[in-house]
Amino acid sequence: MKIYAHRGCSGTYPENTIAAFQAAAELPITGVEIDVHLTRDGEIVVIHDEKVNRTTNSKGYVKDMTLKELKELDCGSWRSEEWSDEKIPTLDEIFDIFEETNHRLNIELKTDVFPYDGLADKVVDLAAKRGFTDRVLISSFNHEDVQSLVQGKQVESAILTFEVLVDVYDYARVIGTKRIHISLPSAFRRMTTDALRKGAIVYVYTVNDVNYAEELHKIGVHGIFTDHPEKMLAHFELKES
Ligand code: G3P
Ligand code: MG
Repeated sequence: MKIYAHRGCSGTYPENTIAAFQAAAELPITGVEIDVHLTRDGEIVVIHDEKVNRTTNSKGYVKDMTLKELKELDCGSWRSEEWSDEKIPTLDEIFDIFEETNHRLNIELKTDVFPYDGLADKVVDLAAKRGFTDRVLISSFNHEDVQSLVQGKQVESAILTFEVLVDVYDYARVIGTKRIHISLPSAFRRMTTDALRKGAIVYVYTVNDVNYAEELHKIGVHGIFTDHPEKMLAHFELKES
């Protein structure tokens, strides 16, 4: 079972920060999941929401701010004063952290609310420039973007789905991928076993309970995204020993 640190080690550190990804880089897990948006001046930044309100000391849309403006914000204090020096990272800064490791990077394009024209191409180009193409898996709830990525044939891509869907594997094949990232509530429905039986590569988000992880492992799910990768590692290592 492949373990991905969801937004970095976001159970312990503020999500999508340098601290959260540095902690993940120390762990023998498969990889990390990273949410990306585009700034007003066209830079790729790592943050989950369209607005900075929840995870910083400011308000407003990422798309309306420049990188310089975003870099002035504190994206750690909302979790604890201990992290008050954390700044919203660029994707380039996250590549720095994983330069010397062999972790895989699942980059989630947050293009389902705002389309961020050009974001997918910018991510593909930056991954290539930094030598990460073989380690990158791009996913999105925006399946038009996933289809364009598949047609570009440069990186592996996955569809993200929250809903329970009938024949999701056949749908994914129309888009051109076998990779399906399914939400935990939907993962125990027939769609998952059907997709696995047909040959899909299924990852499930966000799995923070080891009992659920164990159940998913038993039905043949290939990977999970978790806020607590240390806990999942301990559980699966214990089983193997
Ligand atoms: O990529 C898996 C998961 O991160 C998708 O949902 O809202 O946590 O970005 P969300
Ligand atoms: Mg995400």
